[in-house]
Amino acid sequence: MANIIIIGTQWGDEGKGKIVDLLADQADIVARFQGGNNAGHTMVVAGEQFISHLVPSGILQGKTCLMGNGMVVDPEVVLKEIDYLAERGIATGPDKIRLSERAHLIMPYHKALDHAREAAKGDAKIGTTGRGIGPCYEDKAARCGIRAVDLLNPEILEAKVREALVEKNVLLQFLNAEPIDAESVLEGYIELARRLKPYIANITIELEAAIKADRPILFEGAQGTHLDIDHGTFPFVTSSNTVASNACSGAGIGPTAIDGVVGITKAYTTRVGAGPFPTELFDEVGDRIQKIGAEFGATTGRRRRCGWLDMVVLKNAVRLNGLTGLVVTKLDVLGGLEELKICTGYKYQGEVRTDFPADLTILEKCEPIYKTMPGWEEDISGIRRKEDLPQNALDYLAEIEALAETPIDIISVGPGRSETMIVTNPFQR
Ligand code: GDP
Ligand code: IMO
Ligand code: MG
Repeated sequence: MANIIIIGTQWGDEGKGKIVDLLADQADIVARFQGGNNAGHTMVVAGEQFISHLVPSGILQGKTCLMGNGMVVDPEVVLKEIDYLAERGIATGPDKIRLSERAHLIMPYHKALDHAREAAKGDAKIGTTGRGIGPCYEDKAARCGIRAVDLLNPEILEAKVREALVEKNVLLQFLNAEPIDAESVLEGYIELARRLKPYIANITIELEAAIKADRPILFEGAQGTHLDIDHGTFPFVTSSNTVASNACSGAGIGPTAIDGVVGITKAYTTRVGAGPFPTELFDEVGDRIQKIGAEFGATTGRRRRCGWLDMVVLKNAVRLNGLTGLVVTKLDVLGGLEELKICTGYKYQGEVRTDFPADLTILEKCEPIYKTMPGWEEDISGIRRKEDLPQNALDYLAEIEALAETPIDIISVGPGRSETMIVTNPFQR
């Protein structure tokens, strides 16, 4: 297999960054295709931790890293990230990193609107990351957004910013927020444009050349399937399509180039921000998973809500993404629990549902149906061969495979690149 898409199957933070970094040594190019710096992807190599928000997680392996047209990019954040990586000895020049000329830019008024809207919603807030993601995608759909290519033409940039602010300032004031001054925006963006210019390119030419030459490409998803704008728990979702098919439109390639889709799943479930979560735990087991799993957001530092593995969710992800393989991460975190539960369906008003309902009331009020399995005592983080895992851990994995009807290609038992068992190499499937 040459070209593989990696996506999250749950509500984000499944460990995509770790797995992309791990598999990137077999790829020539790593490309992101949606989202922005709402993402926080963690890589741990030789005990050193790196978190990337925009630059694809192939950067530590020295691969060409492309940011696609489907992304929303905050110019200030991407430049800071490039500097942060460079300070740590990682090559981050325009020979390594390219930003699609068609990617939309997050402007100061997008961030202000994100905050103002959330504040206005009060208790009904989505719990966004506050990075301006939604308002930026709104402008893309409204056809008034500013794209990376606009940074190359100061006159167009100025005209677009001035025009946008006429409307945005009315909105901001309506939402009891401070209006934004065009001069200050433009002043900052002239310097940002100067620095970002060498990175801006038509990345589709490069992807086409790689596809023609059979040079492997990894497509790195952000967020997770159940945060997808169409398929997730709307309106408690992000503003982009997070499912695998968007790798094509969001990077600028055709679906015929894709050979495999790998879904990353935590051995349990987490969610940051608001929205329904049927298997959420509110007891000491949930607290234990949160503590041992160090479940704090890599972007906002918020405590992640924790719960049991939900197969309704995972099977939905298999369906929506056409998964060819699974990666189970954080299996180590479940060690020491007497019993484990896997949700196999939702009971609602006397009926059993195994689809993923669009009606949030069902997700909020349903009673999860659990299959209970025995846990294991051992610390498995040092294990490197699947057959050395405790029998109860093997049974837990076998149950996931059977219910998902999808093979587990990789098992992860720690944050480090090497704390991994590759059962089937996705590039060799
Ligand atoms: P992403 O957004 O999907 O890339 O995931 P995040 O980086 O936001 O969150 C995953 C967290 O779990 C990070 O802190 C990783 O270092 C960590 N992690 C990844 N895989 C494992 C694992 O198998 N075991 C443990 N204990 N931690 C892991
Ligand atoms: P990675 O790529 C987990 C959540 C936010 C909020 C909702 C909308 O690290 O897995 P947004 O700022 O996108 O408008 O927020 O989506 N969210 C994430 N949750 N991991 C992420 O990314 C997320 N990106 C957004 O918490 O609930
Ligand atoms: Mg994350």
